[in-house]
Amino acid sequence: MERKRLDWLLAETVARFGAAGGLYRAPGRVNLIGDHTDYQDGVVLPIAIDRDIWCAATRRGDRLLQFVSLDLGESARVPLDDLRPEALPHWARYPAGVAWALQHEGHALSGADLLFQSTLPIGAGLSSSAALELASALALEFGSGFTVAPKNNALLCRRAENEFVGVPCGIMDQYVGALGVAGHALLIDCRHLTHRPVPIPADAAIVVLESGVRHHLAASAYHQRRAETEQAVTLLRQRHPEVRALRDVTQPMLTAAAAALPPVIQKRARHVVSENARVFAAADALEAGDLIRFGELMNQSHQSLRDDFEVSTPEIDLLVEAARAAGALGARITGGGFGGAAVALVRGVPIDQFCAHVTSAYRHATGRAATVFVVRPAAGAGPLVLEERGDRVRTRTYRLPDGRFFVDYRFDHD
Ligand code: GLA
Repeated sequence: MERKRLDWLLAETVARFGAAGGLYRAPGRVNLIGDHTDYQDGVVLPIAIDRDIWCAATRRGDRLLQFVSLDLGESARVPLDDLRPEALPHWARYPAGVAWALQHEGHALSGADLLFQSTLPIGAGLSSSAALELASALALEFGSGFTVAPKNNALLCRRAENEFVGVPCGIMDQYVGALGVAGHALLIDCRHLTHRPVPIPADAAIVVLESGVRHHLAASAYHQRRAETEQAVTLLRQRHPEVRALRDVTQPMLTAAAAALPPVIQKRARHVVSENARVFAAADALEAGDLIRFGELMNQSHQSLRDDFEVSTPEIDLLVEAARAAGALGARITGGGFGGAAVALVRGVPIDQFCAHVTSAYRHATGRAATVFVVRPAAGAGPLVLEERGDRVRTRTYRLPDGRFFVDYRFDHD
């Protein structure tokens, strides 16, 4: 499967650009618990997943960037010296934004052709945008002859998304996409930009339940929620000047300030404060192998995101209920919300049976098809080329993301 993908991508690159250059991979993510906490300096517990974007990159002789999306069948070009989002289709703003951020931080870039191929559904809440950014960052950096540490890549990709694309996201998606560890979730402290890998037990299955429904107001609603949490901070700071973000707020502080906060703002703050506590408890439960407790915390998180933060949808609520009825230890909406996907933790139930139950319950209730699949905790973004040998006729060894096999690929020129 991955061998085929590799052959296809390299053949496409050679056919379009006359040479096969570097190959880079960046994963999507599923957040197990801790949503809408990252932009308030909070904690999150996502995994990088084995669905990803691959980018084949070739250096150009001029100062143009050309982006090709094999999945969309579209391409876009932009001069490196005149990077503006308005001139580009939406998807191409992400790679262009990364080039913009790199140049802004003083890096000299070369022109390049970047060809993307993805196994991540777009708009499904699995962070295809962060994957596109990280794959582009690696391709542009290696292609221009320098490297950037993974954490800095995460930061510059977020900057590209915030300032060039104009999406006010937090750091979670880019961080786990850059630093993910196979077989582990990452407990990320979004204030201190530090993390701790937490192993996922081998007998636990992480299942993504995609609703197939994306609300067109998702972007503006995200904006609004973020603004509401900022309003909570402003109001709470009047009593507690030391509060910099909701990370600094405790449940008793919130209760004591109840009269000073409008009811909606109170609910938003209550979600963030309680979610941070759940994330720490969930990381401890996972470390102790207590998946039952972990599942309970996922369920509580869903309730909080549904009732207090109000980012769930009827479709996602149905999927979450169907997953629990089919035997999941826990299930919750994952990511930004307003559609997208839910995540379930499953152990001791045959996966095929679980998926069949959920899809048929969802179809029965909504008439729609849900997409349900297992994901594995994968490593963060990196190059797929392991080494090159030889002179005129060279051999390149690719290390595929599952790490289990290597492929020798012969190519005559570059
Ligand atoms: C989106 C953003 C993240 C985070 C989540 C909600 O995925 O990109 O930064 O805020 O929503 O947890």
